[in-house]
Amino acid sequence: MSKKAKAESEMMLKLVSLAKRRGFIFPSSEIYGGFANTWDYGPLGVELKNNIKRMWWQRFVHGRGDMVGLDASILMNPKVWAASGHLANFTDPLVDCKKCKKRFRADHLLAAQGIKPDLGTMKESPKELKICPECGGELTSVRKFNLMFKTFVGPLEDESAVAYLRPETAQAMFVDFKNVIDSTRTGFPFGIAQVGKAFRNEITPGNFTFRTREFEQMEIEYFVREQDWQKYFEHWLNEMKEWVEALGLKAEDVFYHEIEAEDLAHYSKRTVDIEFNFPFGRDELYGLAYRTDYDLNQHAKFSGQDLQYTDPETNEKFVPHVIEPTWGVDRSVLAVLVAAYHEEAAPTADGKTETRIVMKFPKKLAPYQVAVLPLSKKDELKELSQPLAQALRQHFSVHYDETQSIGRRYRRQDEIGTPYCLTIDFESLNDQAVTIRDRDTMKQERVKIDEVVNYLKAKFDGN
Ligand code: GAP
Repeated sequence: MSKKAKAESEMMLKLVSLAKRRGFIFPSSEIYGGFANTWDYGPLGVELKNNIKRMWWQRFVHGRGDMVGLDASILMNPKVWAASGHLANFTDPLVDCKKCKKRFRADHLLAAQGIKPDLGTMKESPKELKICPECGGELTSVRKFNLMFKTFVGPLEDESAVAYLRPETAQAMFVDFKNVIDSTRTGFPFGIAQVGKAFRNEITPGNFTFRTREFEQMEIEYFVREQDWQKYFEHWLNEMKEWVEALGLKAEDVFYHEIEAEDLAHYSKRTVDIEFNFPFGRDELYGLAYRTDYDLNQHAKFSGQDLQYTDPETNEKFVPHVIEPTWGVDRSVLAVLVAAYHEEAAPTADGKTETRIVMKFPKKLAPYQVAVLPLSKKDELKELSQPLAQALRQHFSVHYDETQSIGRRYRRQDEIGTPYCLTIDFESLNDQAVTIRDRDTMKQERVKIDEVVNYLKAKFDGN
């Protein structure tokens, strides 16, 4: 293993360990031995994830005049997936090892060898796809594997009861298009936004939460006139760049990958993948696609409904074209964790130095914004610190901790990324002031208790 690869896998191990130790992400069903590639967001993880989703909704739904929201069901009429093309096209090429029974994505095996053949037109596996990379056994020929999770609705497990867990949130925005324009006063162009779970029976999940079978998406279908698609494609590309900055990801770790014409999905005329330097390599974070009028036309054809938009001024009818920016929630959380992780040399109380692990989350995304840390558990300090914590809870997410040495408590708060720690000491009883420590600079300031809320509000403003 190269030095770089070793450092990258060490970084991933550190992150997975911190995520578990501090309650961000746990292996799912762990007391039963776990369940491969499933993860649970713990008390801090759910706060971080919700903060990301809230920031997204604020920015792209409440923060704009041309967007409405939707929360559609995961189980939809199976005809949706015939119309969208998922039943026919949502497949990955798969090979199995006849000896060790491991399963691989054929395109991934070839990419690892620097080869990019068109697996769709291939009659026979190329020689690079004959031998298992794990055990040297013989590989089967390439098969197409549909990624949708199949289930049965109701008591009968026959073909008429088959339904699918949605593999993307997007389709509901097209299927509900008519209901949305009939029930709301959207102008034009306008978008529909949705946040929700999606499911894909991935052949090779892995890299922690990067590729899982159950995940969450934040998607927008933005409806435009055909002649305007380029303008709005650029608009959304720019919005996505600004979003990535707001997450605290460094510009040099983010890449905008123009997908080549022959690799575009069946519905897309232009796609840009937004990629991030994860510790395990550069890979897809988000996507931006011009989906043309493909989806609305398909659903109009399969449902027999008119899915045109009528211009209220001219009465002109047309099928809108669609720009689709899409964001993975779990990949956002993972990228934010990666970008926030820092190891720094910090002085100890006895004049030595130690390594401090600090999660430098953007302040508004931190699971706890403020920690209230009385220096002692004595009642007179409690009488001051507990009402202060309660008052702060009306404005910020607050963590209260009165056990262990203050040094250890600071280290803990650094590891969970709390931007501000308030310590209450015996002097606070006299001067009615607390010490506020900044996570990133470790500088401390004495602030009067009745000024604390405004002091902190100013710190969070614009951050
Ligand atoms: N509606 C378009 C669409 O679903 P996609 O590129 O297949 O496009 C969008 O998925 C985003 O969803 C990805 O950019 C990624 O962030 C996230 N995503 C896709 N598959 C995932 C998986 N198996 N695990 C975690 N996130 C996934």
